[in-house]
Amino acid sequence: MTVEAITLRSFTDLSDVRETLIGLYADVRAELLHLPNYKLTTFAERLDRHGAEPGWESTIAYEHGKAVGYAYANTIEPGNRWWTRLTSPPPNVYTAGPAVAIKEIGVVQKWRGQGVAQRIHDDLLESRTEPYATLCVNGAAGGGKVQELYERWGYMTIGRQEPLSPDAPQLTCMGRSVPQRFLKP
Ligand SMILES: CC(C)(COP(=O)(O)OP(=O)(O)OC[C@H]1O[C@@H](n2cnc3c(N)ncnc32)[C@H](O)[C@@H]1OP(=O)(O)O)[C@@H](O)C(=O)NCCC(=O)NCCS
Repeated sequence: MTVEAITLRSFTDLSDVRETLIGLYADVRAELLHLPNYKLTTFAERLDRHGAEPGWESTIAYEHGKAVGYAYANTIEPGNRWWTRLTSPPPNVYTAGPAVAIKEIGVVQKWRGQGVAQRIHDDLLESRTEPYATLCVNGAAGGGKVQELYERWGYMTIGRQEPLSPDAPQLTCMGRSVPQRFLKP
C-alpha cells in the first residue's frame, strides 16, 4: 500500500468526527491506555473541551475510507493557559497575537514512517491564519526520536511545561512559523 492511497479531510465541527477521533486515539495509543493520563475517557474529556474552544480544526487521513491518522489544533490567544503553563515565557513573536497549537497527532502503526504524519500536519496548517504554530512533546519519547522528528519539520524548543498532573511527564514546548504560502488571508 503506497501513500498515494491516503486522502486527507479537514473538519471544524467536532460532532462530525468525535467517534472517529476517539477510535483513532484508541488504536494509536493502544499500549498506553491503561495509564491514567492516557485513558480513553481522559482523552474524550480533553477532546470535548478542545472541540468547544476557539479555532478547533482536525485533519484526518483515510486509506480508502478508513481513518488511519489524525491531528487537531486550536487557536491560542496571548495569555492562554498553553503559554502560562510554561516555566518561562516563550519568544515574544509567539505571544504577540493568536498562534495555532497542535494538540494531538497520531498515525496507526501500519502507516508510520512513511510521511503520513507530516502530510496531516502540513494540511492542518494550510487552512490557518495564525503566523506561528506550537506543539508539545515528551522529550523522552522514543529516546528523543519524536522531538527529533518535529525538529525535522522545522520546530525548535521554545519552553518547558511542568507536568499538569502527577501522572503526566514534563513536556517540551516547540514552535515554528507557519509558511506564508500556508496562510489564508
Ligand atoms: C508521532 C507520529 C505521528 C509520527 O509519525 P511518522 O512521521 O510516521 O514517524 P515515525 O512513526 O516513523 O516516528 C519517527 C521515529 O520516532 C519513533 N516514535 C514515534 N512516536 C513514538 C512514541 N510515541 N514513542 C516512542 N517512539 C516513537 C518511531 O519509532 C520512529 O523511530 P525510528 O526512526 O527509529 O523508526 C507517530 O509515530 C505516532 O502516531 N506515534 C504515536 C503517537 C504519538 O506519539 N504522537 C505524538 C505525541 S507528541
